[in-house]
Amino acid sequence: LLDSKEAAMVKKSKKDMIIVKISRVISAPKWKILRLLTKVEEFHEYMPSVKEAVIIKKRKRRFWTRWHIQVDNVPIHWVEEDVFKFPRPEISFKAVEGDLQEFSGNWRLHDHPEGTLVEVTVKMVVGIPAIKHFAEQYIKGIIEKNFTGMLESIESRLISLRYAGLKKGDKQKVAGFGVLGHFYNYNHMMRSMKQLNKHFKPPSREFIHKLLEVTPSFKIYDMQTFKSKAGVTTNGRFILCTFIPDMVNFNTQAVYSKVVRACKVAEKYGVGIVTLGGFSSVAGERYGHQIAKEVDIPITTGNTYTAVLAVDGIAQAAKDLSVKLKDAKVAIIGGTGDIGSACARALAEKVRWVTITGRTKSNLRRLRGELRRRHKAVIEATTDNKKAVIDADIIIACASVSSSILDINWFKPGAIICDVAYPKNVSYMDTSRKDILVFSGGLSSAPAKIETGMDMGLPSQKVTYGCFSEVIILALERRYENFSSGRGAITLDKMNEIRRLGTKHGFGVAPFYWGDKLITKARLEHIKKDARIAKQKANKAKK
Ligand SMILES: NC(=O)c1ccc[n+]([C@@H]2O[C@H](COP(=O)([O-])OP(=O)(O)OC[C@H]3O[C@@H](n4cnc5c(N)ncnc54)[C@H](OP(=O)(O)O)[C@@H]3O)[C@@H](O)[C@H]2O)c1
Repeated sequence: LLDSKEAAMVKKSKKDMIIVKISRVISAPKWKILRLLTKVEEFHEYMPSVKEAVIIKKRKRRFWTRWHIQVDNVPIHWVEEDVFKFPRPEISFKAVEGDLQEFSGNWRLHDHPEGTLVEVTVKMVVGIPAIKHFAEQYIKGIIEKNFTGMLESIESRLISLRYAGLKKGDKQKVAGFGVLGHFYNYNHMMRSMKQLNKHFKPPSREFIHKLLEVTPSFKIYDMQTFKSKAGVTTNGRFILCTFIPDMVNFNTQAVYSKVVRACKVAEKYGVGIVTLGGFSSVAGERYGHQIAKEVDIPITTGNTYTAVLAVDGIAQAAKDLSVKLKDAKVAIIGGTGDIGSACARALAEKVRWVTITGRTKSNLRRLRGELRRRHKAVIEATTDNKKAVIDADIIIACASVSSSILDINWFKPGAIICDVAYPKNVSYMDTSRKDILVFSGGLSSAPAKIETGMDMGLPSQKVTYGCFSEVIILALERRYENFSSGRGAITLDKMNEIRRLGTKHGFGVAPFYWGDKLITKARLEHIKKDARIAKQKANKAKK
């Protein structure tokens, strides 16, 4: 029983009590988190706010620990008594001395479908007269920051340990693939949002752009099982990088941070390997190999298989339109890029003439030199896209640009144009030419449906991007490695290897599509006929 003086003090302290509650779902079992929480003396190594945490006494399930934390340059010291309670599990703590008048709380761990829900509750009384009103709110903020930071650090620590195990060859702790995707323009973003809510009324562009800019990348969809033709299964996570390609040009650093964050989201789920889809690879690669230093998860750009699909796609198209590949003149727009240079290396073995284009003259000169030394085809390089395509039989368009750069009227009758780029190098809008074949290159057919949780701009669920296919193939093979990495490093050996693995699992060149329209065999026959007529007309006009 309390005497009246003590009871009054308890009542006053309850009135001044500040309560902070923080929680986080950590993708790890309870016992792993508990094991970290008991290693108090290691906290200062990976928790930035913890300057000192030492065990000063132990007795059965009771510990006495001394703490020194520092947030925003404010140091707080205390000694607490901790009690471990099983089987819940729970750790309760209560300061027995220190800077705060009262300081107690608990850590509780609960099962969660994605791992463990960790809840921290802190109760405290700051109790400093005169500056009480300011100090209470200020210290509340500091305690919130400290415990939020501790939870983040625990999660990062568990992730680092998991991927450190992978680097040593332990593939048991990770699984599946991750795909980083993004909206490919404003209209695509609006369409996707309307799909989620058909009553959605688009606000101003300015507003939605700003909102997208500040929204962190997040997981949008879980693919539970993907089964290949060879009967092997894997699973996947689709992560939305919250940018549109325009942003890469005026704020590359922000886009890059979104790509890093998206990789970290994949790490949180213990994904084995991720691909940087579309422009996320352009943003990632713009910083060279830096991204590999910032994240632990193996990354592949998907560009090797995309290049395979482009090269195999034009071989298929040439066959369909009776164009002899060995006599063909090929133009590769964006030929100095990662995909473009891989296509150039592969085609310089097979065709009569290759022209590469790009914006940077020194890159053009370097690649032209390499190709001329190694291959038998005539090799040309230019910054003039029109000059390159005007008399080309086959065009692979893979320039990273945010709007179309190739005019449909530049192509000669019967030309085959494989547009690998996103956004497209040839505008979808202009369909006036009936005598040429324009199709979306770098697309693959898949052995099973691929659901992504949002409109990925694909014509069918069994058709997917080369970069998605590459990461799925690697996950099926449990090849958790930086398969396609860097820029301009894709070799013919690697292309052959991923082509072989793709075939084994049931991937291959997709039927030809332009936008969401399938180009039928009958349409190919019409193109052949119209090209013949157009060529005859042109020849007559010349005479
Ligand atoms: N279909 C798929 O599944 C798939 C998969 C991955 C990527 N992609 C797409 O493929 C494209 C290329 O990707 P990447 O990784 O190879 O890109 P990359 O390495 O950045 O190369 C881009 C190339 O485009 C050139 N370029 C830029 N502007 C140009 C212009 N106005 N005229 C001519 N060339 C220009 C660049 O030349 P400079 O270096 O001189 O500027 C460079 O050669 C991107 O659009 C990407 O979204 C598609």
